Amino acid sequence: MYKKICFLVAMEAEALPLIEHFKLRDLQGFFGPEMPMKAHAGRFNDLEISLVTNGKDDRYQIDNIGSQPAAVSTLLAIRHFNPELVINAGTAGGFRERGIQIGDVIIAQGKAWFHDRRIPIPAFSEYGLGGYPLPDHSALIRELGLKAGTISTGNAFDFTEQDRAIMDSLQADIKDMEAASVAWICHLYNTPLLIIKSVTDYVSLQHPSEEEFILNFELANFRLKEALSSVVNYINSQ
Ligand code: ADE
Repeated sequence: MYKKICFLVAMEAEALPLIEHFKLRDLQGFFGPEMPMKAHAGRFNDLEISLVTNGKDDRYQIDNIGSQPAAVSTLLAIRHFNPELVINAGTAGGFRERGIQIGDVIIAQGKAWFHDRRIPIPAFSEYGLGGYPLPDHSALIRELGLKAGTISTGNAFDFTEQDRAIMDSLQADIKDMEAASVAWICHLYNTPLLIIKSVTDYVSLQHPSEEEFILNFELANFRLKEALSSVVNYINSQ
């Protein structure tokens, strides 16, 4: 079905297992000197695979996470690689009360939302929520025994009371910092998108999510790579 896919991954540590597994080569300086984003590419069976990370912040030497780098990365990735499918892969916080467990790998279904773009002006409130429709991946989800869920994106690792109320009203299962931004650019270019996230921490006031994130990152990352290997084999077999 798809012959050209592009992984969009925010953090280098999330991307490394994929770069190794799919034996992707480093396209040094691919986006020019101004852009921190990094590109890798290669072939895997019948598939042409590219992978774009957000790169590092030059002042703090940490990954450029969040919705702004995600939009720029997605734009660069689509314009340079022209993929038939974008796969946004990474980690997310999960809502335990909706049955999500640490280490679960979730494929986002329904719509991709934002929970922190609150603009209480007619029409802008709907715009703020994003709500970009996602392709139906139910056959893949069933075949690979993965979980489907609703994703909401915001630029804070934690959340305010208002964020929480919006995520509850959206029935969000997982929360990340990039997906809806990626979905916006994919929507503009009419490029199919698959969002796949592994859960590192619970979205709750009782647990300090940042400690859980660090503790569970390795496990979640391993599960993400395993799931993506199955996803790519599935795509290759279609
Ligand atoms: N990525 C991993 N955990 C997260 C959380 N709790 N919020 C946003 N992004 C995350």
